[in-house]
Amino acid sequence: MKSPTDTRQPSLFGRVSLGYVVVESRKLPEWQRFARDGLGVHAETAAGGVLALRIDEHARRIVVHDGPAEDVIAIGWQLHDEAALQLALARLRSARIEAQEVGGADAAERGVERCWAFDGPKRVRYELFTRPLTSEHALDMKASGFVTGDMGLGHFAMTTREPEATLRFFQTLFDARVSDTIEDKLNGVTLELTFLRVNGRHHSMALAATRGKRMNPLRSAIHHLNLQAKSLDDVTEAYRRMRNMGLPIANAIGQHPNDRELSFYVATPSGFEIELGWNPIVVDDDAEARWKVGHYRGISLWGHFPEGLTLGAKLGQMGRGLASLTRKEYTVGVQA
Ligand SMILES: [Fe+2]
Repeated sequence: MKSPTDTRQPSLFGRVSLGYVVVESRKLPEWQRFARDGLGVHAETAAGGVLALRIDEHARRIVVHDGPAEDVIAIGWQLHDEAALQLALARLRSARIEAQEVGGADAAERGVERCWAFDGPKRVRYELFTRPLTSEHALDMKASGFVTGDMGLGHFAMTTREPEATLRFFQTLFDARVSDTIEDKLNGVTLELTFLRVNGRHHSMALAATRGKRMNPLRSAIHHLNLQAKSLDDVTEAYRRMRNMGLPIANAIGQHPNDRELSFYVATPSGFEIELGWNPIVVDDDAEARWKVGHYRGISLWGHFPEGLTLGAKLGQMGRGLASLTRKEYTVGVQA
């Protein structure tokens, strides 16, 4: 889908979506319980002992493989046609970034035929692909379904100490557009969030930065990965199941002011969070034509009350925030 405003230069807007994430963890049994019994997604152990999570016809949407990182180590981006992939690769090449072609078992582990990998912002591996492997097996999950399609897997939010460079990266590589911004105060620190869309999904990524001294209090590459459930019941029932299972709910159900999604946040066995949400605004062609970038104060209209954040965790975050000041964050420059 090409936007009518992009008549002069080829654009990737509407031709790219979040495809999959790869997690490295030593806690595969915990992940299986978390995903299958809690979130209510399809979870199966695949070749090589990998845990494969499905929410639609894609054979893999979240891959958890054995390893020490306890983090997201790769993010897969689906380019919707071959020309879109070639345009992305050409933009990388013009910035002297040579993406490595990956095939065989490594690609199969991610549920794709092949992909092209390079170091993205914060040195998280970014992997570009066009064709996912699909599964003909019916989904076996507690949730009624998830909204994916051309809008992709969902969204992720990342902290960054280089928000300008990271924003530029997504704008120049994927023609990302700013949907809106939110400013909030957290533990006395002002947080600035920028929400970016690359298709009809209100945002596929959110960038969070502290105002003034740029700190990164998070150990993990992302703060959360969002999945969009088909029904409100999917969200409320998962919330009740996960609470009853004793899983660490980070934020109870609430609503964001910008995309209006109803959601809650739960910490995964690896520490970063998953946001399960319902009914966010979709920026369709009509809305796109009239879109004005909004600026909001406060991350939530109501709810999202913290449930499980202990004082120890807060102190740990402060310590990591200060320690982050001594390290340079990796950035990627791409010419459009
Ligand atoms: Fe989110």
